[in-house]
Amino acid sequence: MSPAIGGIELTVDGVAVHVDDPRLSLLAVLRDQIGNQSVKDGCSPQGQCGCCTVLVDGQPRVACVTPVRRVAGRSITTLDGLPPEVRDRWLSAFTAFAASQCGFCTPGIIVRLAATTNRSDPQATVTPHDIEGALGAHLCRCTGWGPIVDAAVAATAAADDHDCGQERLGDMGMVGRNPDAAARRASLEGGCAQQVGARIAAGQGGFAADTAPADALVALPDDSGGWVVAPSLAEARLARAKVQGRRTTQPPIAPLELPDGQWDLTLRTTWVEPAYLETDASWCAPGGQPASPLANGGAFGAKTDSLAPDAARHLADTHQRTVLVLLDREDTVRLGPKRPPIAAGIRTDGSGVVRVVDTPGIEAAIASVAPALSIETVQVPGPPTSAAVRGAGWVEAAVLLAAAGGHEHITTPAGATAAATIDEHGSVHVRVACGDPLDVPVLTSYCTGAAHMAIGWVTSEGLSVSPDGTIGDLTIRSFGVLRASATPTITVTVDDSLGDTTGTPVPGGDAVFAAVALAVWRHQGFPPAWPTGQPLRSR
Ligand code: FES
Repeated sequence: MSPAIGGIELTVDGVAVHVDDPRLSLLAVLRDQIGNQSVKDGCSPQGQCGCCTVLVDGQPRVACVTPVRRVAGRSITTLDGLPPEVRDRWLSAFTAFAASQCGFCTPGIIVRLAATTNRSDPQATVTPHDIEGALGAHLCRCTGWGPIVDAAVAATAAADDHDCGQERLGDMGMVGRNPDAAARRASLEGGCAQQVGARIAAGQGGFAADTAPADALVALPDDSGGWVVAPSLAEARLARAKVQGRRTTQPPIAPLELPDGQWDLTLRTTWVEPAYLETDASWCAPGGQPASPLANGGAFGAKTDSLAPDAARHLADTHQRTVLVLLDREDTVRLGPKRPPIAAGIRTDGSGVVRVVDTPGIEAAIASVAPALSIETVQVPGPPTSAAVRGAGWVEAAVLLAAAGGHEHITTPAGATAAATIDEHGSVHVRVACGDPLDVPVLTSYCTGAAHMAIGWVTSEGLSVSPDGTIGDLTIRSFGVLRASATPTITVTVDDSLGDTTGTPVPGGDAVFAAVALAVWRHQGFPPAWPTGQPLRSR
């Protein structure tokens, strides 16, 4: 097949496709021309998150940095185009291990893993190490990688078991489980209504960028606080001056000075990017209600006050057309809320001072676990901050108090308790009590994700911000999120010795987040600033 005059021919999931505009990326063709929404846009055109991974003649490629002219005449396979038995096997495995929470990253991951574990020699084993290597091209913010590796091992083993592999994984991975209870646990942990199951693993979590009507206008933020509105995403991107993603060589710096005093322990932190994979989006019809940007994930609290819904409503009323508001990765980093930095000193008797970047609600959050600590708020040039970001303020205070008091357990304001230890191999062992687990795979997955986020927070995560408040890190790989191969083994156990595990279920992930941050900080000898720059595991 050769390129047509003035256009390009290619095959997508077995169907011939003609593309008029050879300047487009393969991702733009797949999502915006063909309407294939299994292919996600988490960072285009950075090519760093892996959410748009497809197969080009059987080889994994990131579609956002692949010009469509380069794949003229080639065969493209998305998740939707995998052989049905392969697709079902992977969706079952991801459901069985709750390896998909929001599900935004999952289609790209499955496409790559299905291709890279498809061995010509059935005697060749696929190890967790192999899978972690393949995951190097991807990011997942929710699951902490462990459930994904477990699902991939199971899917690969099921493929070898030709007679009953699918049966062993169960009917779409939910055999013996209560889907309603699983969804309830996911909703508790996610902080908003969430679903579980094969549909979520297939990337059909109802993301606003996917559910917008095809004829909606598309609005992107401009540089001056306004919006560029155009008939299509491609035209909107052409019409605005792009703030290009960049990664500074400057390390993150804690912006606040320690309070004066004699302290037994001190801690300074910097701005931390929530780094959710699905960037903010919402759409609205004139006079209507805007679509929620939360979809199947609450972005760890960071989308609670997303600017997208109000903007969509305003623009729809202004233009008297349905408008899809879309933030790309750079927009999300510049405009979205961060974890506020602190500088704190504490004594072993539990007295101390927490100095924190001025953030609505942060004093109450800290006082909820540490009423005896003095709190000082400080104005500092920098990105927006929010007390809605996972445990902001109170987790820092709880970790300081537990560290100063020599405790291992942390109990959240909601009543969950967790404890964590780190063994000689750097493996992290978590115990949690958070009422009725409801569904152990889902609880385990959310707690593993919380542990992964805590390890990253203490050791590697932070935004570089210049003294005038400008963010220097605008690429998704620059925030310090731990990739699969750098993530230690994390085990999660529901432990009734820590508290009631039969009563009213409460979120457990926040307790795990705090307990693991404490354990990592203790394991590293209580260095005075996060990120510490010391990995728990390196290869
Ligand atoms: Fe991977 Fe949400 S499940 S980013």
